[in-house]
Amino acid sequence: TTINWDIQSAQKSGYKHFMLKEIFEQPKVIQDCLRGRIDECENTVLFSELENFPLPARLNIVACGTSFHAGMWAKYILEQIAHIPVEVDIASEFRYRNPLINKNDVIMVISQSGETADTLAGLRLAKEKNAKVIGLCNVVGSSIAREADVVIYTQAGPEISVASTKAMCSQMIMLFLLSLYWGNKKQLLTPNFKSQYIAHLLELPEQIETNLQILHQKANHLAHKYSWANSFFYLGRGLNYPLALEGALKLKEISYIHAEGYAAGEMKHGPIALIDPQFPTFALAPEDELLPKVKSNLEEVQARGGKIIALTNINSKLEVDDPWIIPNFKSPFISFLILPALQLFAYEMAVYLGKDVDQPRNLAKSVTVE
Ligand code: G6P
Repeated sequence: TTINWDIQSAQKSGYKHFMLKEIFEQPKVIQDCLRGRIDECENTVLFSELENFPLPARLNIVACGTSFHAGMWAKYILEQIAHIPVEVDIASEFRYRNPLINKNDVIMVISQSGETADTLAGLRLAKEKNAKVIGLCNVVGSSIAREADVVIYTQAGPEISVASTKAMCSQMIMLFLLSLYWGNKKQLLTPNFKSQYIAHLLELPEQIETNLQILHQKANHLAHKYSWANSFFYLGRGLNYPLALEGALKLKEISYIHAEGYAAGEMKHGPIALIDPQFPTFALAPEDELLPKVKSNLEEVQARGGKIIALTNINSKLEVDDPWIIPNFKSPFISFLILPALQLFAYEMAVYLGKDVDQPRNLAKSVTVE
C-alpha cells in the first residue's frame, strides 16, 4: 500500500483548500486576539503598546483591499464607541493626494502582510509630515511593523490563501478592542456597557464555532442555486456596508463573478437601473435599527423582478426568495457571523464553478510593487 499525501495537503489539515481552513480558524483567531487583552476584574481592555501614545483627537486609517474594508468597518465603531472622528483612505489615493496631515496627527495603517507598497508609502508620507503612525499588522517584523511608531499585531497566524479571510476578522477584533480601550480612557463607557461588551467578546469564539458548520451548509446550498448568475449586488447599511463591499470583493476575487457592493440607500441613485431577474442581490439585513430602511430598499429590488438572498434574523420577517437566517447577536458582534457567511458563499461558488480557490488568476497575496 502507498500513502498519498504531500506537504500542502498535510498543512491543510484535512480541508480541501487553505481558504476553507482559514475561514474555519476564525474562532481560534478571535481567541488569540483576545488573549492578554482583557482585564476581567476591571472590565477593561489592555494595550500596553499604547501606554505612552497620545489619545488620538482624530484618526486617519490607510489601507488596501480587504484591510481597507476592515478600516471602513472600524470607522463606525470608533466613532460610536470612542467618539474619535475617523477618515478612511485607500492607500494609493492617500499617498498621491497631498493629504492634509499635521504634526502629531495619528495615522493608522492596516496591513496583513505589512509589505503592501501603497500602504507602506502612505506610512512613509505620514512620517515625513511628523505624524504618529500606528501599524496594525499580522506579519511580525514586516516593513510596516518595523517602520511604524507603534505596532499592534493581529493574531491571525499565517494566511496562505490569496483571498484574505481570517486576517480581516482579526483586524476587526483588534479595532473593536481599540475602540473600547480609547472609549474607556475618555470615560465614555458605563460599567454596565463594559461588562456586557467584554462578556460578549469572551463568548464570541465559541458562538462562532457552533455556527460555522451550519453557515457552510447553507452557503453550499445557495451557491449551487445561484451559480447561474453573472452579476451580484451586495447591499448593506451601517456596519453592513463595508461588509457588503467585502462580500462582493470575495466573490470577484475567487469566482470571477462580477459583483458590486453598495450602500443600500445609494442604490436608487443609479445602480437600481441594472436590476432584473438575471441580476440577483445579496442583502445584509440583520435585525437592527436600520432594518426598516434596508427592507424598503429590498422592496424596490423585488418590484423590478430582482431575486434576493438575505442574511437576516428570524424576527425580521423578511419576505425574500432566500432568507439566510442567522442567530440574532447584537451589533457589532453579528458582524463576526456575517463575515464568514460571505466568505463561505464566495468559496462555495468558486468551488462549484471549478475555480482555483487558493490561487486566483491575476492576484497576488502581497502586492509589493505599485
Ligand atoms: C492583496 C491581497 C488582498 C489584500 C490586499 C492588502 O491585494 O490579494 O487579499 O487584502 O493585498 O494586503 P495587506 O497585506 O496590506 O493587508
